[in-house]
Amino acid sequence: MTYQNMTIIITGASSGIGKAVSLALIPYKPKLVIVARRSDKLRETAEELDKANIDFLPIIGDVRNAEDRNKIIDLTLQEFGQIDVLINNAGIGKANLIVEQPEEEIDELLETNVKALIMLTRKIIPIMKKGGGGHIINISSFFALLPVYPFAVYSATKAAVKIFSDCIREEVKNYGISVSTVLPGPYDTEFNAVAGIATGRCLKYEVNPLSKRIVKLIKKPKKNVIQPQIFVLLIKLIRIIPPLKGVITNTIAKMIARERASMKITELRRKNKEKEEITTLTH
Ligand SMILES: NC(=O)c1ccc[n+]([C@@H]2O[C@H](COP(=O)([O-])OP(=O)(O)OC[C@H]3O[C@@H](n4cnc5c(N)ncnc54)[C@H](OP(=O)(O)O)[C@@H]3O)[C@@H](O)[C@H]2O)c1
Repeated sequence: MTYQNMTIIITGASSGIGKAVSLALIPYKPKLVIVARRSDKLRETAEELDKANIDFLPIIGDVRNAEDRNKIIDLTLQEFGQIDVLINNAGIGKANLIVEQPEEEIDELLETNVKALIMLTRKIIPIMKKGGGGHIINISSFFALLPVYPFAVYSATKAAVKIFSDCIREEVKNYGISVSTVLPGPYDTEFNAVAGIATGRCLKYEVNPLSKRIVKLIKKPKKNVIQPQIFVLLIKLIRIIPPLKGVITNTIAKMIARERASMKITELRRKNKEKEEITTLTH
């Protein structure tokens, strides 16, 4: 099937990887369904697609919400009549120590990264089956392979995404449906601010090469895609020298702890400055 004949749903298309994939698809002219909660940010992606004359459908919705998931499917079928590719990209990260992590944050991580992804996939498989096949691309994380403790719950959700993909791949292959998992390393997106590690000191890669790799993947499914490529070597190295895993995870954990501490200080300074300004105004 050519890209032009495909209907592709991308969740989390209002920023970062999802937005970059949507824009990287422009030259291939598929039918695109872009989904996210923030209408202003999704509009920015939509405007780019509109300028390029892409046939697209923007849907404001929260993937955690069952009604919104139904809306994504119903509106896509109404508009384009089929679903060929589902890119389960919507996701959040939260850096926190497990003993300090509030239950609401744990729920948010599990519901967004795991439950929503499973439920949307589960609803779309019968549609792809009826249509003669399809491709499900699940965005996991390198942390699924190299978990890091200030990201324990996040790493667990992304490991769940990988295992879920590995399991259903066998179940759905007889329907002509492929399942690919993408395991990105650190990329420069809004993810870092949401996760609470956005001071800019941690290593981060530019998102466009990753989005181009995902565009290629759409046509050529692959079980696991680790990006950037250097991280494949890292995994190989860890297999040869297992103690390296502990050294690397602890180094990353310390970097993240420093980022979080620095963000807390910046936030405190900002609050103090605000207080000072209010005091000056009231005197
Ligand atoms: N950046 C990295 O370093 C990195 C590394 C490994 C894996 N990943 C994974 O890559 C995926 C994309 O992240 P990103 O780096 O591009 O971060 P991002 O810039 O924060 O993008 C996340 C996207 O998900 C959407 N989203 C979040 N919760 C949602 C919900 N409940 N319903 C609908 N949409 C929702 C956000 O849109 P709204 O807020 O508008 O809803 C946004 O468009 C995530 O699954 C993330 O875990 C990222």
